[in-house]
Amino acid sequence: MRVFSGIQPSGDLHVGNYLGAIKQWVAAQSAESLYCVVDLHALTLQIEPAALRQQTDDLVAVLIASGLDPARCTVFVQSHVTYHAQLSWLLECVATYGELTRMTQFKEKADRQEGYRVGLLTYPVLMAADILLYQTQQVPVGDDQRQHLELARDLAERFNNRYGAVFTVPVGVQPPAAARVMDLQEPTRKMSKSVSSPLGTIYVLDGPDAIERKVKKAVTDTDGEMRFDWEHKPGLANLLELYSGFTGENPNDVAARYSRYGDLKRDLAELMIAELAPIATRYRELRADGAELRAITDDGAAKARHIAAETYRRAAEAMGIL
Ligand code: TYM
Repeated sequence: MRVFSGIQPSGDLHVGNYLGAIKQWVAAQSAESLYCVVDLHALTLQIEPAALRQQTDDLVAVLIASGLDPARCTVFVQSHVTYHAQLSWLLECVATYGELTRMTQFKEKADRQEGYRVGLLTYPVLMAADILLYQTQQVPVGDDQRQHLELARDLAERFNNRYGAVFTVPVGVQPPAAARVMDLQEPTRKMSKSVSSPLGTIYVLDGPDAIERKVKKAVTDTDGEMRFDWEHKPGLANLLELYSGFTGENPNDVAARYSRYGDLKRDLAELMIAELAPIATRYRELRADGAELRAITDDGAAKARHIAAETYRRAAEAMGIL
């Protein structure tokens, strides 16, 4: 099964990314899976060059520390395989302006910025290129990427119909729980690298004290009734989903075992600390060894390039490029 997924080096990894994507990546890793730090995507929002450089290395290190094993799967940096940008151009000539302006994330991000860049509009085409270059069958992602994934499927089908069968049509896969982790302070807003409140986001590299404090202060409600109900009790539902994401249990079953919010919070913080603390330790070791990280991404890029070259060649030829 060919699996591909990507993540932007645009901020620190949080438990939404971890449960929505990274845990699935680790579970699905094999010789057929590729995981990519998408530095070109991070350029769509204004980012300092030094910050991009540092965050790319940080993210590679935290992915390996989270359990991706470069001996079992391919971990690489998007810009190291130039076919991503090249196929993106071919697909921009297949995608329509209308379908790109309808993307929800584009509308939200464009609304927040004056003079947003064209890359923000064409971003989902680059994402489709990422996926289609590898003849990907499954794409493990969180809930917020569903619409982008639909576009990748549409572009693959449109291309295949117009130019011949070049691309595999991918499917997105979401985890059973925690596909959309919400901000702990504003549980109607998605936990995000860019716009969450400081107490609302738990980072994978947060220490035990920070995790305890943020979970303890998480917004719930005042009726005190332990029940999994997104519509009426979003703060509590979010905590129950987080719990499920860490243990694999059903959130209703978790709710049935607790009667007090405080007990649930205490145990949830403990679970998170037990899983995340070893990641932080391993991260610090890896980050101290720049040569090891470079060797991992060089090797990953070589493996990825080999597959991408073949798909790009077939796509370009099918379109009439000599
Ligand atoms: P990004 O970098 O925003 O997020 C990386 C992954 O984390 C998931 N995620 C969440 N899951 C649950 N709850 C949350 N609050 C939460 N926030 C983020 C995302 O769904 C994603 O799986 N466009 C992509 C990156 C990308 C990509 C790709 C993904 C580029 N090319 C090709 C898959 C395939 C993005 O910005 O993800």
